[in-house]
Amino acid sequence: MSINKIKGTYDVLPKDIQLWQRLEDVIKNVSKIYNFKEIRTPIFEKSELFHRGVGEGTDIITKETYTFDDRGKRSVTLRPEGTAGVVRSYIENKLYANNQAVTKLYYTGPMFRYERPQKGRYRQFMQFGAEAFGSYSPLLDAEVIAYSTTILRAINLNNVIVKINSLGCNESKKNYTKALVDYFTPVIGDLCHDCNERLKTNPLRILDCKVDKDSPHFMNVPKMYDHLTEESKLHFDKVISYLDEMGINYEIDPMLVRGLDYYTETVFELVSMDDTLGAQNAVGGGGRYNNLVKDLDGPDIGACGFAFGLDRLILALENQELEKEYIHLFMMALGDNTKAKALSIVNRCRLGGLIVELDFLDKGMKGQFKQADKSNARYIAILGDDELQKGTINIKNQTTKEQVTINIDELYEYIVKDLTANSNSSCECSSCSENGGE
Ligand code: HAM
Repeated sequence: MSINKIKGTYDVLPKDIQLWQRLEDVIKNVSKIYNFKEIRTPIFEKSELFHRGVGEGTDIITKETYTFDDRGKRSVTLRPEGTAGVVRSYIENKLYANNQAVTKLYYTGPMFRYERPQKGRYRQFMQFGAEAFGSYSPLLDAEVIAYSTTILRAINLNNVIVKINSLGCNESKKNYTKALVDYFTPVIGDLCHDCNERLKTNPLRILDCKVDKDSPHFMNVPKMYDHLTEESKLHFDKVISYLDEMGINYEIDPMLVRGLDYYTETVFELVSMDDTLGAQNAVGGGGRYNNLVKDLDGPDIGACGFAFGLDRLILALENQELEKEYIHLFMMALGDNTKAKALSIVNRCRLGGLIVELDFLDKGMKGQFKQADKSNARYIAILGDDELQKGTINIKNQTTKEQVTINIDELYEYIVKDLTANSNSSCECSSCSENGGE
């Protein structure tokens, strides 16, 4: 019997890769704009890191980790999320030293959670995440939220809202936890088994209960904002005002607590309003975590971050029509003598960032035109013996069908200029963007 993949995992086949690559390109480009630098950390870490980092009482740690002893009898865990590993690396490599500015890091990679698989929920899934260290300023919270929404905008995923809330500082959290315990203790018998446990271990998590969310006891739950210290209120109000200033749409959700223990102050989630995702409609989430670096034995430093589930973004994007793949130029060389010159021009164009193809099968003119059509070339350059002798080349714009003859050594400049002039061009190559094109 053949061996099949493990439940909750999937293969990305070549036919589906275009969407993934497009998403990864956008992530890289937007990260550059926000000046976040890529970091790569191991996919497994000492189990203790996640116990201390993510939190003992969370579902992720109690029910979902892949934890095992290695052959040296050390307990290791496949990372269920990226933040703890990045914080570990930040501390271990002293990335905070000699750096007065904020350290901004991003990562993509597989994460592992033993959850019940369904559409949009896997046991191995891909996250893109970002973490910014070294500031308590609400500006950083707003910057991180803006970064996440810019990514959504860049992939044209518009039907997503930012849900936002504040858990406040340690003192605010303590105040609110007490208010919750007082509120839920008399009625806890009406709630599910997990909520009964949460009341003892982590009362905030009761608000996140999927079983009891429609219970009448949830209608009049004390409001988190009312239990924030003045400082935490001010922090949250500022974050909100910065979002307003940037025109970022959000919805304050007083019940939003998030599933990881490390958060303080701002928490947020990016929720798709599209039906495609069904129940798993949170495409991303994050928040501020001012205690985590210190709790993992690093300096006392504020930090803030978020992560997207790339699988969910892909599902949401599958409904969008993809642009047909194209190349910028098909170079037609007619006759043996022209091949060397054609190849050197092709090389020049590729060095400049254009996607170029040519004939390797010694086809005639008709065959080469067919190849150019198949590869969806924006331009076709035609070099015959006559042109070679005169030092010219014919170039045909496949969109306008116009054909011109130009100096052979100006082909690259001609194409870049023409692409740039055409403001509807959706070309994303470095040549066009560097030259002011789209
Ligand atoms: P999280 O909310 O646990 O946050 O995960 C972030 C995103 O990963 C979710 O919104 C969801 O899109 C995706 N995701 C989570 N579990 C699964 C799954 N089983 N299958 C598919 N997608 C999934 C974190 O992980 C935090 N580390 C985010 C963060 C970074 N907070 C601060 N910095």
